[in-house]
Amino acid sequence: MNRKKFLRLSSLGFAALTSKKINTLVLAQKPVVISTWDAGMAVNAAVWKILEQGGKALDAVEAGAISIENEINCCVGLGGYPDRDGIVTLDACIMDEHANCGAVAGLERIKHPISVARKVMELTPHVILVGNGAQQFAVENGFIKEPEVLSEEAEKAYKDWLQSSEYRPEINIEKKQKFGGPFAPAFFKDGTPNHDTMGILAIDKKGNMSGGVTTSGMAFKIHGRVGDSSAIGAGLFVDNEVGCATSSGVGEEVIRICGTHLVVEFMRQGYTPENACRKAVERIVNRDKAKAKTIQVGFLAMNKKGEHGGYAIQKGFVYSIKTAKQNEIIATKYLL
Ligand code: GLY
Repeated sequence: MNRKKFLRLSSLGFAALTSKKINTLVLAQKPVVISTWDAGMAVNAAVWKILEQGGKALDAVEAGAISIENEINCCVGLGGYPDRDGIVTLDACIMDEHANCGAVAGLERIKHPISVARKVMELTPHVILVGNGAQQFAVENGFIKEPEVLSEEAEKAYKDWLQSSEYRPEINIEKKQKFGGPFAPAFFKDGTPNHDTMGILAIDKKGNMSGGVTTSGMAFKIHGRVGDSSAIGAGLFVDNEVGCATSSGVGEEVIRICGTHLVVEFMRQGYTPENACRKAVERIVNRDKAKAKTIQVGFLAMNKKGEHGGYAIQKGFVYSIKTAKQNEIIATKYLL
């Protein structure tokens, strides 16, 4: 799928979105899939194909992540923006209903980091493989080492960035938004990706939950930087007795508070998914309010009943939901 088609899908989601009220709590019939951002609409379609046939949530979230990693000019996968050395490095993780989990970080030249993460989970006694070791493991397990090229869009953005080489690791700053709509789009009008992380949470017909996250990480990061998306308990957490959560935005802030583990623990205490996400956002904001004003972090959660919700620091965080009766984008509330 090219970028034009991707944007068209996003705008379809936007059409659905404009008539929607901001969500508070939604009880959905199982199965359910929710994914970060409006780009999650297309991802959910891939997830749904498996869920509706009675497939496992684990297989479904992997298929969803693969679908967006296939996008050539997208914010995740090999088409994503490179680090400051011009190298695309990918982070991903996956977690199932038994707390089995696997992750890769700083993975280069492999198209489907989510599937490598699953192999780490299933074939090794470890949870995370990084860098060259992760790539070696991937190749040993049949993944192809792709050519070292940037997508057209990423190359242009990187060349532009080199003009100033300003290190400003910010994501989702709404004041920079040029799109003109009420919610954050997948891309700004000038092509700048507005976000870089796809988090997917699913509950299957049997009531089992799994989650997956895939990202090219923060654009123009220091080579070797790893965000929250490969950190179990930060970018993703699943507790099949309670619920699951994922995050998007500035990963460092999510790691500091073990964000998604915190969200799940708040749900264990009885908070709704939305309020659990709000409590985690408050934790970030209360630590450093001045900094929080300049960044975006959004959490997304679903509990065992299929109730779901999200919350963000800033306006603009949205998520996509698909059930047998629902297929739309929901805007989250925000703190600042
Ligand atoms: N949330 C993605 C990252 O910080 O890399």
